[in-house]
Amino acid sequence: MMECKIVEQDVLSYKGECVVVGCFENDRKILAELDRKLDGRISSLFGRKEFVGELFQLWMISTMKKLPAEHVLLVGLGKQGECDPEKLRRASGHATRYLREAGVKRFGAALHVAQGDAQARVQAVVEGAILANYRYVTYRTVEKEKIRFVDGVDILAVREKKEAEQGVREGQVLAACQCWVRDLVNTPPSVLVPEKLADAARALPKSVKVSVFDKKKIEQLGMGGLLAVNAGSTHEPRFIVVEYKNSSAPPIALVGKGITFDSGGLSLKTADQMEDMKMDMAGAAVVLGTIKAVADLQLPVHVMGFAPVTENMPSSLSYKPGDIVVTMSKKTIEVLNTDAEGRVVLADGLAYAERQKPQAIIDLATLTGACIVALGTVAAGVTGTSQEVIGRIQNAGNRTGERCWPLPLFDEYKEMVKSEIADVRNLGHPHREAGALTAAAFLSAFVEKTPWAHIDIAGPAWSDADKFYWSKGGTGFGVRLLVDVLKSWKKI
Ligand code: BES
Ligand code: ZN
Ligand code: ZN
Repeated sequence: MMECKIVEQDVLSYKGECVVVGCFENDRKILAELDRKLDGRISSLFGRKEFVGELFQLWMISTMKKLPAEHVLLVGLGKQGECDPEKLRRASGHATRYLREAGVKRFGAALHVAQGDAQARVQAVVEGAILANYRYVTYRTVEKEKIRFVDGVDILAVREKKEAEQGVREGQVLAACQCWVRDLVNTPPSVLVPEKLADAARALPKSVKVSVFDKKKIEQLGMGGLLAVNAGSTHEPRFIVVEYKNSSAPPIALVGKGITFDSGGLSLKTADQMEDMKMDMAGAAVVLGTIKAVADLQLPVHVMGFAPVTENMPSSLSYKPGDIVVTMSKKTIEVLNTDAEGRVVLADGLAYAERQKPQAIIDLATLTGACIVALGTVAAGVTGTSQEVIGRIQNAGNRTGERCWPLPLFDEYKEMVKSEIADVRNLGHPHREAGALTAAAFLSAFVEKTPWAHIDIAGPAWSDADKFYWSKGGTGFGVRLLVDVLKSWKKI
């Protein structure tokens, strides 16, 4: 992994391949001294309007030995008043990707130039750089030497030393945990079978208590939802429980959907829809990655993670449309579409979490295509029974750049998932209207009284392209978000 550290040097004294300098739009004042050293080349760029500091604009200048650094990379940060940590994170990712492809191995970064919280600014730059440096190359053998990485980033002199150190420390942990989640999501689905995801849980830091329930234990517990979805699969299911206890308060429960491959089952997906369905365990991976970060940072919280894990496959043993499933809570589900399997396994996941008497439950799931229709990949949908928890998640989303947008949980949606012959049905309206909302309404039937929030990450869990600090594939969306929620947790 890329190494990040704070160095005492500044832009004018940094000795290395490249120094990266943030610039606000039409503001060359803060670059005045650099401009002088470079014989006015920056002012003439501005004068010719070639580089004006527009958001995410890049401009590489060779210093021709006028400075100790060989190159200066100017990075546009847009309007000064509008430069928040997420813009810095993206700018940092954008610059890192550019330099990585240019073959630069180490650079100095002076991107944290905006006003405001020094820790947040430095942390955003560190996260952006590490995340942008990530690529999933485990299975590449051809021309592997051509795949470049940056080895290290030097964060240039920051006045608020203590805050900056903290930003580097937390940024490194969060980005590393997100890369760990990305690896799990990107691992091919025939490799990352349920037992392999359980192995990832077992590899969490020693301070995390890990239990993995096998099929026998899952049967004893009567987790009929998880068993039904698993019925068509050769690989046995797992139910993962992890706990980090660094507070005497009751736990905060995180529940993650862990479908290691979603073919749709007998309600088979089309080839196109199936392409990326190894990502359907992102919720479970993010829960594990969050607990890893919480343990690495030794946050003073008590948190438990739960993940029902299985494939969803067609076979002559598969659960079928028309089946009625008896879940662990004894509530029954009429199955109308085997591709709406996430909610069926989460029924058991949520009910099991509630039995542990947590203060609150937050679940994460790549639950519905409908949520992508509503919000795209730009934000997750958040809903639930606790406006307090939902509000905290939205605020954490705004702080961390992992935005969550509220979806309603009206009674009408609960009506739409009522069944004539069972307690609930796993499909709302036949035309799938309000698909993200009927899915959430379904889940609400399995949380009796605990304050609960549900985050549908189907959109942001996966990126279709390399952009800013995302690479094509899993994003790790949710780790920064949940760690922020836990860090600022207060009794409800
Ligand atoms: N895993 C999918 C949802 C999904 C779709 C995630 C695309 C990421 C990208 C989920 O299990 C699913 O198939 N949902 C169905 C539900 C429908 C059958 C009611 C959907 O959204 O189409
Ligand atoms: Zn599905
Ligand atoms: Zn699914």
